[in-house]
Amino acid sequence: MNDMLTIALSKGRLAEQAIELLEASGYDCAAAKEKSRKLILEDAESGLRFILAKPADVPTYVEYGAADIGVVGKDTLLEESRQLYEVIDLGFGACRMCVCGPASLAGKLDGIPNKRVATKYPHIARSYFEGEKKESVEIIKLNGSVELAPLIGLSEVIVDIVESGRTLRENGLDVLEVIADISARLVVNRVSMKMKAQSILPMLDAIRVQLSANKTKEEEENDAV
Ligand code: PRP
Repeated sequence: MNDMLTIALSKGRLAEQAIELLEASGYDCAAAKEKSRKLILEDAESGLRFILAKPADVPTYVEYGAADIGVVGKDTLLEESRQLYEVIDLGFGACRMCVCGPASLAGKLDGIPNKRVATKYPHIARSYFEGEKKESVEIIKLNGSVELAPLIGLSEVIVDIVESGRTLRENGLDVLEVIADISARLVVNRVSMKMKAQSILPMLDAIRVQLSANKTKEEEENDAV
């Protein structure tokens, strides 16, 4: 008898890609694809229940066991540092966590004392500057459109996600330093990993097999070009 598994998805693009991957891995996700505003989508037959959460809350649901499994960006995991198992790098949602600012600051960052750093990721920014670089900075927490900050003099630099680089380009900013490579990760609650191992382990295996098939296909396509 399989356990009912609750999977916390990050609302938006990551959720769509996670569902696509699960389906390709052999799991029926019809319930999760329902177009509605429901936040819990359950399919009793397939034994899966999906909850749609704000990305920053996914690690919280998983840490407390409200969800057995979560799909969430590494950026959120680094920022939230929750007690859970990070088990698979899913590859999608790839981007970089960077220090960005005007190109005129390239190579000169270390020379600015007590820099102001605007960011949605205060924990990541602090551990990078104060932990890794042993540098004291002033962190200014923002909730979005972070690129505005250096443009209007709120901060010298920002710490933010860069995906295509378009937002930076269109606002005259550049990547100054790269902090970390980011992508979506599959995380598992620590108790569920033991108590529901008979359902979770086969799912992890199926996903790994599918990811490696995707990779092989991609390599073959690249070779054919
Ligand atoms: C994210 C991020 C950057 C942008 C990067 O913002 O904070 O602003 O995307 O993507 P790009 O390199 O492809 O341009 P988001 O769209 O989530 O909005 P927000 O700034 O309001 O958080």
